[in-house]
Amino acid sequence: MLTNKKVAIIGVGKIGETLLNGMIKNNLVKEENIAGSTAQEAHAQKINKKYGIKTYINNKEMILGKDIIILAIKPQMMKKVLSNIKDIISEKQLIISIAAATSTQFIEECLEKNIPVIRAMPNTPALINEGMTVLCPGKYIDENHIQMAIDIFGAIGLVEVIHREELMDVVTALSGSGPAYAYIIIESLTEGGVRMGLPRELAKKLTTQTFLGASKMVLETGMHPALLKDAVTTPAGVTVDGLMELEDGGIRVALIKAISRATEKSKEISR
Ligand SMILES: NC(=O)c1ccc[n+]([C@@H]2O[C@H](COP(=O)([O-])OP(=O)(O)OC[C@H]3O[C@@H](n4cnc5c(N)ncnc54)[C@H](OP(=O)(O)O)[C@@H]3O)[C@@H](O)[C@H]2O)c1
Repeated sequence: MLTNKKVAIIGVGKIGETLLNGMIKNNLVKEENIAGSTAQEAHAQKINKKYGIKTYINNKEMILGKDIIILAIKPQMMKKVLSNIKDIISEKQLIISIAAATSTQFIEECLEKNIPVIRAMPNTPALINEGMTVLCPGKYIDENHIQMAIDIFGAIGLVEVIHREELMDVVTALSGSGPAYAYIIIESLTEGGVRMGLPRELAKKLTTQTFLGASKMVLETGMHPALLKDAVTTPAGVTVDGLMELEDGGIRVALIKAISRATEKSKEISR
């Protein structure tokens, strides 16, 4: 669906570059059909050299003639960037915004036209094609628009579409911020291995492959995690003692509260 579509990425930063890289590496869009902008000229030049795409520091100039415009700027930059492009943007162009805490309604209203807007929340494992993206369509979106967004984010991981935008705050808290929670758990389990005498690199490998395997078990078998946990837990064995320590440390409540707290924060920023 994306063949011959022209794409502009406003804000080729961490996540914008991840998307750019994914689209090029997976041959979704040809280099000559993709362009990116940054705030600083030196950064634009660096991206131009690295990917061979046309880069800009002028968004108005870049979006002319583009079919899809990806907004990958910080939420606080959104109003300024949208008011700069609103005169020249047309209803034939699709906007995909990956900015956290920025509603489709806000973008539609800033542009003062019936512009199709999709909100997307990807995460950083997209860099290695293991991302998780949730899409939420705005008021003027049709099935073709959704399919184009699925094609883009499907190249860098799994994609889900939801239609209740109020859930994007918990999506942000869970899969958007989630890699940070996973890293802290990986770091801590590794430390535990080191404390008990394992070389650090080995402890890290044991932890990460175990997490990867456990995640795939849940995804691929479709079994409830509690059943999979029970299968590892021999009566009076080793695992149950480890589990007791985790429960004693309040791991479940801590993780559940982390999602609630981060969701509230996302709501607060949205307001
Ligand atoms: N990082 C994540 O895990 C993640 C996940 C999901 C969603 N997001 C969302 O993605 C957005 C970007 O986050 P990020 O982490 O990628 O931030 P980032 O690395 O700071 O990237 C932002 C980019 O925007 C550029 N920029 C600033 N003003 C601009 C303008 N007026 N025109 C064009 N480009 C401009 C900056 O250019 P310079 O480098 O030249 O200053 C920078 O490259 C945020 O809204 C965030 O909520 C991030």
